[in-house]
Amino acid sequence: MPGRLRNIALLLSAAALAIPAVARQPNILFILTDDQDWHMQSLQHMPLLQKYLVSEGTLYANHYCTVALCCPSRVNLWTGRAAHNTNVTDVWAPYGGYPKIVREGINDDYLPHWLQDAGYNTYYSGKLWNHHTVENYDKPFAGGFNGSDFLLDPHTYQYRNATMSRNGGDPINYAGRYSPDVTAEKAYSFLHEAMSHDEPWFVVHSPIAPHSNIDLVPEYRGDMPAYDDRHANLFKEYIIPRDENFNPDVQGGVSWVKELPQLNDTVIAYNDEYQRARLRSLQSVDEMVEVMVRILEEHGQLDNTYIFYTTDNGYHISQHRMHPGKECGFDTDVHIPLIVRGPTVPAGHISNAVTSHTDIASTIMALAGTPLEDSDGIELPLSAGADALSKQEHVTIEYWGLAIPEGLLGWYGDSNMSDPGYKAPAHAAPNNTYKAIRVISEAYNIYYSVWCTNEAEFYDLKTDPGEMKNLLSMEHASASFTLANRQFPQVRSRLDALMMVLKSCKGRSCVEPWRELHPQGDVSNLIDSLRPEFDIFYEQQPKVSFSACMLGYLPQYEGPMQVNSFAVDDETDPWKKGSRIPEFLLQPGNGAMWSLWT
Ligand SMILES: *[C@@H]1O[C@H](CO)[C@@H](O)[C@H](O)[C@H]1NC(C)=O
Ligand SMILES: *[C@@H]1O[C@H](CO)[C@@H](O)[C@H](O)[C@H]1NC(C)=O
Ligand SMILES: *[C@@H]1O[C@H](CO)[C@@H](O)[C@H](O)[C@H]1NC(C)=O
Ligand SMILES: *[C@@H]1O[C@H](CO)[C@@H](O)[C@H](O)[C@H]1NC(C)=O
Ligand SMILES: *[C@@H]1O[C@H](CO)[C@@H](O)[C@H](O)[C@H]1NC(C)=O
Ligand SMILES: *[C@@H]1O[C@H](CO)[C@@H](O)[C@H](O)[C@H]1NC(C)=O
Repeated sequence: MPGRLRNIALLLSAAALAIPAVARQPNILFILTDDQDWHMQSLQHMPLLQKYLVSEGTLYANHYCTVALCCPSRVNLWTGRAAHNTNVTDVWAPYGGYPKIVREGINDDYLPHWLQDAGYNTYYSGKLWNHHTVENYDKPFAGGFNGSDFLLDPHTYQYRNATMSRNGGDPINYAGRYSPDVTAEKAYSFLHEAMSHDEPWFVVHSPIAPHSNIDLVPEYRGDMPAYDDRHANLFKEYIIPRDENFNPDVQGGVSWVKELPQLNDTVIAYNDEYQRARLRSLQSVDEMVEVMVRILEEHGQLDNTYIFYTTDNGYHISQHRMHPGKECGFDTDVHIPLIVRGPTVPAGHISNAVTSHTDIASTIMALAGTPLEDSDGIELPLSAGADALSKQEHVTIEYWGLAIPEGLLGWYGDSNMSDPGYKAPAHAAPNNTYKAIRVISEAYNIYYSVWCTNEAEFYDLKTDPGEMKNLLSMEHASASFTLANRQFPQVRSRLDALMMVLKSCKGRSCVEPWRELHPQGDVSNLIDSLRPEFDIFYEQQPKVSFSACMLGYLPQYEGPMQVNSFAVDDETDPWKKGSRIPEFLLQPGNGAMWSLWT
């Protein structure tokens, strides 16, 4: 934010504070794990998290990340902007990582800066971005924090070789110590420092657990995460849930997923141990949650602090025959834990509101008393009864690039693509660029995706929670699917148009996408859109398509970008053809008068 605007923001927040009715701005403690799953029971294996956060706060049961990859997801989280608006879509150059974040101006304009402008002191311990390295951490320094201690590449994912820069100082090596414990200790000290000042504070702890252990030097080598000795004996009996999508006999999916061979017993045994290792690594996080809550309690600050617990993206291991990894649109990868405990948040509540990481920045800035003006998200329902008011039913999901198996045994293909400078492991799957949407209400639960190969997937999670039966494939007839007495082709045409809006939405069009299609505001969800009088309108919409599989957001390869709006420029609309309506009312911008007539 330019200096002058910052001053205005400070004045505004000072003014807000001066109003007696406004409570003191709450503190915010944010715990962000790395690659934590919802679908392999990781939350159920964290007893202290259950005790201090789930039982005392709200679990958001329909929470999603929008890009299933660390760096793009974190940019989405800390900006409140969709990935197609940040254009940080990967972990490495040229499409992502810290240098790209700096180039896009995000290092000077994201949540910690906005919170400082609102009067907060801000602190961060752990992993901030990817490609934030021992070489570039000071070119420039990461912005927005009063205190920071960042894990740096190429050592970020080495569990016993953490290398960190404190407040911009030279990198310090913590060889032999367990990284999630190291970053936790630093987070405790920041918490104490934050509480020693009068201002409200924002403290983030982002441990690497339960991410895989990765050596980048001398060459890429990924293996299961390391855990501390004190947790080595836990979960010996655990196996990954044998859900219907676990290494299935009949494979679904499209593109490279469809071609995957079934995993053999050696891989399955390795994968079960891999998830045990993840659960063990999460025990350090679980203990940290308890320490954090106790510190807040001892200082009398628990009642004025919101605690957020979430992760950057989900994870799959053996589901859909995949080796350990993320980057897919399946719920294993995008449906993730979010728990919030705080003064207004109902305890022991499970919220079914449909929410995503795009909503977090708006939520935090609203708590800070200076709501975000140009976010692509909305505020989470944080108080009793707020769920009922939450009308959002869609999540925008997008991905560009490769799918990289992380286990020692994974091999998906040859990622030797003709993109100079792109340093990806040779065993990654190309053609993993896609757009997807989740649409969820009491009456329906749908995943719809269109890939860069122009293949598409449609899963009805009401009857197929494992996303095994693609209703657009030869094997699975879509004829049986109906919604509000409409047939599958009518439903799909609406979802095509919704995805068209969401793939390039910005601000309000991300939050109220149906309004782009129906500017009069008479359609605000999937059911409304299914009315038969809209059939021709939807059939004639441009459709999401790609002309090539690219590794980044290159819109020239991503087909049409604009939708038609009903009644304003739809030639098939009988009202427009009729002569009863004066022509000037049909001009864009005269919607207010138009609504007087209808
Ligand atoms: C996104 O970034 C890439 C890499 O810098 C660039 O080539 C592309 O044009 C950008 N896309 C948009 C829409 O700006
Ligand atoms: C934190 O940083 C902000 C922005 O630089 C500054 O205004 C504020 O005084 C700092 N707080 C402390 C306690 O130093
Ligand atoms: C551990 O990190 C240091 C840098 O802090 C590096 O010099 C060393 O090579 C790393 N060790 C391993 C085994 O990667
Ligand atoms: C099992 O699959 C892995 C990975 O594809 C392969 O390396 C290994 O040789 C296979 N083992 C057996 C016993 O077939
Ligand atoms: C990538 O493919 C090109 C062209 O087929 C080939 O010349 C090159 O050696 C390959 N690089 C690697 C690392 O396999
Ligand atoms: C990737 O998709 C293109 C079509 O866009 C296809 O020609 C190519 O064979 C695919 N590659 C792989 C490895 O599936």
